Amino acid sequence: MQLAGPWVMGPPADRDGALAVLREAVDWGITHIDTSDAYGPHVTNELIREALHPYPESLLIATKVGANRDAQGGWPTARRPEELRRQVHENLRSLGVDTLDLVNMRMGDAEGPQPGSITEAFETLAALQQEGLIRHLGVSNVTAEQVAEARVVAPVVCVQNLYNLAHRHDDDLVEQLAADGIAYVPFFPLGGFSPVQSEALSAVAARLGSTPMSVALAWLLQRSPNILLIPGTSKVAHLRENVVGAGLSLSAEDVAALDGIGS
Ligand SMILES: NC(=O)c1ccc[n+]([C@@H]2O[C@H](COP(=O)([O-])OP(=O)(O)OC[C@H]3O[C@@H](n4cnc5c(N)ncnc54)[C@H](OP(=O)(O)O)[C@@H]3O)[C@@H](O)[C@H]2O)c1
Repeated sequence: MQLAGPWVMGPPADRDGALAVLREAVDWGITHIDTSDAYGPHVTNELIREALHPYPESLLIATKVGANRDAQGGWPTARRPEELRRQVHENLRSLGVDTLDLVNMRMGDAEGPQPGSITEAFETLAALQQEGLIRHLGVSNVTAEQVAEARVVAPVVCVQNLYNLAHRHDDDLVEQLAADGIAYVPFFPLGGFSPVQSEALSAVAARLGSTPMSVALAWLLQRSPNILLIPGTSKVAHLRENVVGAGLSLSAEDVAALDGIGS
């Protein structure tokens, strides 16, 4: 999401830098990239295609559907069957593939998950999966009830929700999904538009000779074995810092200090 222009609209200021982030991520062994054709719109997918197509076998590109962009940069909901079909075909075109590795059905809005049925939307994606256009299905910005509802329609391989050191509303859901062998992919792992800041985080980072962002990522990876990371960055230097930092080993004392931050 960080590779498009300001407010995720239009081209990036540093196009070569965005292409370099993508190429270097794969060179560093990253096998999971999260995108959406709504980023730009089309801009991020087209950058991914330019930088990485033909894609390595090992790379999984996850995309999501459920919203359009308007001229003001808003994210109007687009979840009717014909809108979802159109978005899936647009993703296929912009990424340059015959089958999408993973499509998340994104519900909710900027305020977070909202109650309401996911069944019709998920049935549409399940039909597209049956047609061979999608390999795996996931859900995003959802309540635990919507996860359960989607699982009645088709297998759900991942849930992508807002979660980080400071926002832990999904604690129970993370545990439940881990028990069921379903991946949990936190979005805004670093806090998104307002990076996580806390004295406890800075203190742990200083003690380890690391950075707060690294510690925030390492905490997520240690939080549960089903957590997969998608930190966003437009800069190669931050990418390197995040890859190295996520591998930090946190002691029980560090984790206890960090666990005090969230709510
Ligand atoms: N499903 C959904 O509804 C949804 C919603 C939002 C996001 N997402 C997905 O989740 C991904 C991650 O979320 P996000 O990118 O919005 O938020 P994020 O990963 O929490 O944070 C990204 C911000 O942190 C900065 N950053 C990254 N590494 C840094 C470092 N080492 N030091 C200092 N600053 C650093 C980035 O700026 P720089 O560019 O300067 O590094 C950017 O401003 C997105 O890329 C998108 O794919 C999904």
